[in-house]
Formats: sequence, C-alpha cells, structure tokens
Amino acid sequence: MIVNFINKKVLPNFKIFFINKDKKNLKYHNISSNSEIKKNILNSLSKRNFNGKLGQICHIDTITNNEPQNFIFIGIGDENKLESFNFEYFGGLLQPYLETLQYKEISFQVGGLKKVKISNENIILHLASGIYLKSYSFKKYKKKDEENNKKVSSVSFVVSNPGKFRKLFVNFQAIAEGVFFSRDLLHEPPNILNPVSLASRAKELTKLNVKVGILDEKKMKKLGMGALLGVGMGSANPSRLITLEWNGNPSSKSPAIGLVGKGVTFDTGGYSLKTSGMEEMKMDMGGSAVVLGVIKALALRKSKSNVVGVIGSVENMVSANAQRPSDIVKSMSGQTIEVLNTDAEGRLVLADALWYCQEKYNVKKMINFATLTGAIIAALGNFYAGLFSNSDKLSDDLTKSGRKTDEKVWRFPLGKEYDELLNCDIADVKNITGTGGAGSITAAQFLKRFVKKDVEWAHLDIAGVTWLDKDQPLSKKGGTAFGVRLIDNYIYNNHEKK
Ligand code: BES
Ligand code: ZN
Ligand code: ZN
Repeated sequence: MIVNFINKKVLPNFKIFFINKDKKNLKYHNISSNSEIKKNILNSLSKRNFNGKLGQICHIDTITNNEPQNFIFIGIGDENKLESFNFEYFGGLLQPYLETLQYKEISFQVGGLKKVKISNENIILHLASGIYLKSYSFKKYKKKDEENNKKVSSVSFVVSNPGKFRKLFVNFQAIAEGVFFSRDLLHEPPNILNPVSLASRAKELTKLNVKVGILDEKKMKKLGMGALLGVGMGSANPSRLITLEWNGNPSSKSPAIGLVGKGVTFDTGGYSLKTSGMEEMKMDMGGSAVVLGVIKALALRKSKSNVVGVIGSVENMVSANAQRPSDIVKSMSGQTIEVLNTDAEGRLVLADALWYCQEKYNVKKMINFATLTGAIIAALGNFYAGLFSNSDKLSDDLTKSGRKTDEKVWRFPLGKEYDELLNCDIADVKNITGTGGAGSITAAQFLKRFVKKDVEWAHLDIAGVTWLDKDQPLSKKGGTAFGVRLIDNYIYNNHEKK
C-alpha cells in the first residue's frame, strides 16, 4: 500500500473525524455544511451505537449531487490520555477495513482535534504510519491474487502543504522499511533462510552504506568461538557471524553502541529434541531480525549515530555430527561450558557473539535480542518483552522508549542467587541449572557471564512477542518485528547527534 500526501482531493474522498467518549466533541466538528446530511449522519451514528469508545470505527457513506461522500468516525475515548502511538493504532485499525473497499485509490481528509496535546500534523503522520505498517503482508510464495487488483493500493492524505508532510514522513517510512525487512526475514521458511542466506540478506544493506562483514566457520574457529560452533555442528548449513557497522556520526570519539542478535534459523532442540512447537522455530532468528531491521532504519533515515550489530547465526539440528548433551565446549571468552541441554542453544550462540562485540568494537553499551526462553511466555504472555540489565539507567531509557512506541518491556531481577545455579563441577559454567523455576532469569544470568564488568548491558527476551497468531494493532498475524521501533526510538533519544 502506498501512502502519500497531496493538496487536491481524489475521489472517493474519506473524511475522518476523531470523536471522544460520549460523543462530546461531535458537535464541534464541521461534518458537513449541508444540514440535511449532517442530521442523517448523526442519526446513523446513533443507530449503530457509536459512542466514541477508544478504537471504535464507523464508516457512513451517502451520495449528494452525484458525488459519493464518505465519513469515517474513529472513537478516541478520553482525549487527555492519548499518546501519539494511539494515532498509529487508529491507522492500523483502519487499514484492514480499507482492504474491503473496491477502489484502487482513495484520499483522506482528517478533521482536526482541539484538546489533544499532539499537533494535527503529528496526528496525520502517525495515522499514515499506522496504515503503512499494518499494510504489510508476506505473499512471496503465493501466486498472484486477482482479488488484490481491486483493493485499495494507494491512500493519499489531503493537506495544504504536502511537500512538508512528505519530508516529515521520510523518517516514519524509514522505520517502517526496517520493520518490513525484519518481518520479511521472520517469514522466510527455514529451507530458504539459513545462516549463509541470512548473511547474504544482511549484505543487501551495503547499498545503504552499512559496512557488512561475514565470518565463516574457519575464522570463528580461529577466534575460539567453540560455543557458537558447537550448536551449528549438526547442521549441513555452515554457521556464520555477521557484523554490521553504521557510522552516521564519524566525528564522535565515544565507542559505538552494540546490538547483538540470536540468529538461530531453525531450532529443533538438537538431541534434546523439541517435543512440541518445533514448527514455530523458524522465528528463532527473531533477535537477528531486530538488529537488521534497526540498522536498516537507521541507515535509511541517515541517523547521526554510531551503531554496530553482531549476529550469531546457526541452525540447531540433529545428525551424527551434532553436539551431545554433556559435551564441554570452550567459548571465545575462555570460559568452558558444559552443554547439558542442546535446546538451550541461544545462550551458547550469544556467549560468543556478545564477547566478539566487546572485543572487536570495544563497546561500552550493548543490547542483545533473543527469542531465548519459553519461560518468558509463561511470565509475560505476548504483551511485554522481558528486560534484564546490569544498568538502571539503560533499563529506564528502554522502558521509556517501550512506552512511547508501545513495544513494552518489563524488567526482571538478576542476582547472585540465580547466578550460582549455573556453577558447574567440571566446567566453568553449565548451560542449564537443572533446577526448576526462573528459567528466563537464569538464561539471562548465563549471558551476563559473558558481559565485561564495565559494559552497560541489556538483554531483551522477545520469545513471546516476535511471532503472534493474531492480528496486532500494527501488524497482521505472523512476524511482528517487535523491537525495531523500540530500539530506533531509544537510539534517537539517547545516541543521536541532533
Ligand atoms: N528458541 C527456544 C525458546 C523459544 C520458545 C522461543 C518458544 C520462542 C517460542 C530456546 O532455544 C529454547 O528452546 N529454550 C528452552 C530452554 C530450556 C531448555 C532451558 C526453553 O525455553 O524451553
Ligand atoms: Zn532451543
Ligand atoms: Zn532457540
């Protein structure tokens, strides 16, 4: 779906009005100068029980003087509680409805709001962004649908200064393209997306002036990445470490911020074979999809920040060469790990990816993303990502960005008691505790053993939010790319030269 800004309406034209609870602001709106039409519309709204409740949508169409007239009323509830993301959500609510209309092209006029702290300009931009984000679907492997030719493929907002809007929308569009890149990768099936092809997809970002590096198994072996390589041993597809460098603020002397992603392109569990849910495990590269999506967004909007990405990519399979439960591997950090459960593979991959990120780029701040534990779904369901961090400041900043973008995070504790559960008699650390409970925290404690003392670090466990079986406000069912908008906002607020 194309979203544009124009200064002359094209037909059919849809007038959008935001109505607060109990329809209190309805009378202020200039719905129509024709009192007959106005009366009919108000009647229709009442008949359909439209009461301005948050998220309620009502479309009314009439014809006057041979011209179709379309009115869309969107309930906004209590206008004092509205944030800008709410207007993105309204766009996301509206978009599936647009797909049911039998027009190719439509235009919108947005009725202003008086008592809201968000400017009309921002209302329109967020509405447009929401429509655009929600319009994504992955149809690469489906034959062309005839029906699609009749659906709305272009929406234009009628504004007096379209040039200004187009300019401002560039940033929204950049973030959306990052989100779409991330969603594309999530949807690819695992017979197509493996560590090698993921690395080729990452290479596409070279076009946008991102420096992309790929380490093959030979190079990783030389660096001592026994933890990552152990996971990939059972796969016919060789493992890869992917690095990305976005250098948007070359004059800065401080080290870049590091983003590290779990890129397990398929997780069978290995010899600790999964007994359920294996068919969902193509999304186990969700962490890497966040890193790639964020870097693409930063590059497209030419963010004045310095960010490096490191992705550990492996396929966790079963074969005669696969790792066994009880193998001991040596990580790049020098610590040895007893692999008691081959299904706790994400932490093994991240152990080497995190260490490499610190050694190679000397980062002092590092955020990692991983579909790491089923336990985080037990704790938070599909509504929050788990946040684990050694820094209150970083946690607060991420929580704030989570609220702003509505990609919410919830902080969990870390502590000595949990860490001790990972102590191992015959290696430096074991990859599972063997005792029940706190599975997401002990996974985070494992990662923390590979984070240097002077590095501010946060781990986001996104296992519950990366892939959803239901439509969401800004995505259709499937890959959400949760984390891209959140981290883009975090970098914009905390690491960007303005
Ligand atoms: N990739 C899974 C976690 C996962 C589960 C992601 C559900 C998305 C949805 C991870 O590698 C895993 O298997 N974790 C184990 C850890 C356990 C063996 C300690 C888990 O959560 O059961
Ligand atoms: Zn696993
Ligand atoms: Zn996994």
